[in-house]
Amino acid sequence: MKELVISSEEYDAFRSYLEDITGIVLGDNKHYLISSRLNRLMEESKFESYTDLLREVKKPTKGPLRENVINAMTTNETMWFRDIYPFEVLKNELLSQFVANRGKPLRIWSAACSSGQEPYTISMTVSEFLDKNPGAFASGVQIVATDISSAMLKYSQQGVYDNSAINRGMSPERKERFFTAVGDNWAVKPEIKSRVTFKSLNLQESYSSLGKFDLIFCRNVLIYFSSAFKGDILNRMAEILNPDGYLFLGSSETPTRYTDVYKMIRTSKGVVYQKK
Ligand SMILES: C[S@@+](CC[C@H](N)C(=O)[O-])C[C@H]1O[C@@H](n2cnc3c(N)ncnc32)[C@H](O)[C@@H]1O
Repeated sequence: MKELVISSEEYDAFRSYLEDITGIVLGDNKHYLISSRLNRLMEESKFESYTDLLREVKKPTKGPLRENVINAMTTNETMWFRDIYPFEVLKNELLSQFVANRGKPLRIWSAACSSGQEPYTISMTVSEFLDKNPGAFASGVQIVATDISSAMLKYSQQGVYDNSAINRGMSPERKERFFTAVGDNWAVKPEIKSRVTFKSLNLQESYSSLGKFDLIFCRNVLIYFSSAFKGDILNRMAEILNPDGYLFLGSSETPTRYTDVYKMIRTSKGVVYQKK
């Protein structure tokens, strides 16, 4: 495949467009990232230059091109039980706090769900909690999983994973319990899948249609955004987080530099955040 060279002007125009439509900020020297991620799309769509691509993608009749650019430019790295501790904390310390006096479902948002490992891991954690606390959450548990990438949402919704995806963080015991073999692949069982609803959501958009949440997972996505956008996301998440609810961030992420609406809660295994 012939790789088209991207000029400095094209690079600046493209990264500014990408930030406009996704919030993703590319550093000064990520030319290779654009060319490696967009090379196939450029060839398939027969664009002669990045200027041609930008002209086309900016046309108001968006079509699939814009979607394809977003799918190519988002980083979807994820795994089962990523960092382990959030799910241990959820199961052993937090879920029990939401059991008493509930006449309504427990609601959890996985805000950048990628290929589905995060929301399905949350659902598996809920099942493991229910094993020890049968009858808890009689009104149900709703997990809303959102992402900007249509390709990731399509993949997540299927809930079928190959061995290389399964091998990233899934123990043999959990694989046995939560998956069914389908040929060479593994399908998430209905017990796990039925709690999760997938929706397309760009974190730049309003969150109000999602309703209120008891727990929000916003992990390993803020890293791609500007400080101003991180603050904006965290402030708007606080608006839809119930007062006794919790926010989980990625293991190296913290809200303190971007907003002061959260207080840090130390658990035995790591930190989570609550509205002040
Ligand atoms: C590295 S993955 C993180 C997945 C998961 N939360 C985890 O921690 O393993 C980042 C995800 O953020 C999504 N993303 C990037 N920009 C977004 C935006 N503006 N709105 C919603 N999702 C976005 C990407 O499509 C990608 O699936």
